[in-house]
Amino acid sequence: MRIDVPEGWEDKLADIVRGTVLIVGAVDTGKSTLVRYLWSRLAGRTDLALIDADIGQSVLGPPTTQTLRLADPEAPHTFPPRGRLACWFVGSISPRGHMLPTVIGVSRLVALAKRWRAQTVLVDTTGMVAPHVGGVALKWAKFDLVRPDVVIALQREQELEPLIAPWRRSKRFRLVELPVSPLVRARSREERVAWRQYRFRMYFRRAHEITIPARALALLGTGEPVPDRLIGFLDRHGFLLALGIVREWDGQEMRVLTPLRRLESVDAVRLGSVYLDETFRDRRYPERARSMHRQSPLARADHPSSE
Ligand SMILES: Nc1ncnc2c1ncn2[C@@H]1O[C@H](COP(=O)(O)OP(=O)(O)OP(=O)(O)O)[C@@H](O)[C@H]1O
Ligand SMILES: [Mg+2]
Repeated sequence: MRIDVPEGWEDKLADIVRGTVLIVGAVDTGKSTLVRYLWSRLAGRTDLALIDADIGQSVLGPPTTQTLRLADPEAPHTFPPRGRLACWFVGSISPRGHMLPTVIGVSRLVALAKRWRAQTVLVDTTGMVAPHVGGVALKWAKFDLVRPDVVIALQREQELEPLIAPWRRSKRFRLVELPVSPLVRARSREERVAWRQYRFRMYFRRAHEITIPARALALLGTGEPVPDRLIGFLDRHGFLLALGIVREWDGQEMRVLTPLRRLESVDAVRLGSVYLDETFRDRRYPERARSMHRQSPLARADHPSSE
């Protein structure tokens, strides 16, 4: 694929991009494409890491998760990168109603990348930037927590002004403003749903069913692990080991579809806010009434708006 880069930026970008680099922009502005381009330009650096914090249209991990990957020292040019891996479970396909796990996840993954000695960390983000939905607050919280060295802002018209205007006068980070390429292709809502479905299907293709005595586990989140609900198996540091889809729940045990093979490292189970049907299409509410808990007030109150 030919990637359109604004004139004069080819060499400049590679020089500027050092430390923690946050890429921000509204939906369909070419954020992920820019990240991919930067990766190919910087691939000589073995200390390179990528964090895909876009929980809706994720490229590295399944939707609802944020993923950190280091460059593979054996194959630094490979994209998606294949090096050391860590994941964070947000449990939603949009930061709406999930602001805290979204910013905490990015912050934890950046800290981990640094602990793994990554010198350049590229962070791809969601397109949630509008102030009236909390996009500005979200991005500013990320600036405070992640303390980026560089923020690359992809702006089409004036839509990023509330987010970036004050930072033009700040010395906290270098703000690089880029126009949106005319070659950007907007994706329809249906394409986005289909992408998530494809990513989930790929993720669960080697999954098997396990039965877990739920009461023995730390169950985090509101509501019940009702059928179709997406859950995350977490390690003792809070990072995601694997996703699961609840198949059955009788209040004691849950039967879960998951690629996870060993339960030993599981410290807790976090309940997600999306439900996957048999075709792995995500919904905000469970479709099938397979459990008595579906009708309980708890189950109905546990999934705030997430799209
Ligand atoms: N600089 C570019 N040159 C050529 N094509 C581009 C460029 N940027 C984006 N595109 C095209 O537009 C499509 C959408 O771009 P991309 O996925 O990078 O946007 P995004 O901002 O990450 O979207 P989202 O908000 O959904 O995450 C890409 O599939 C790619 O084909
Ligand atoms: Mg993207």
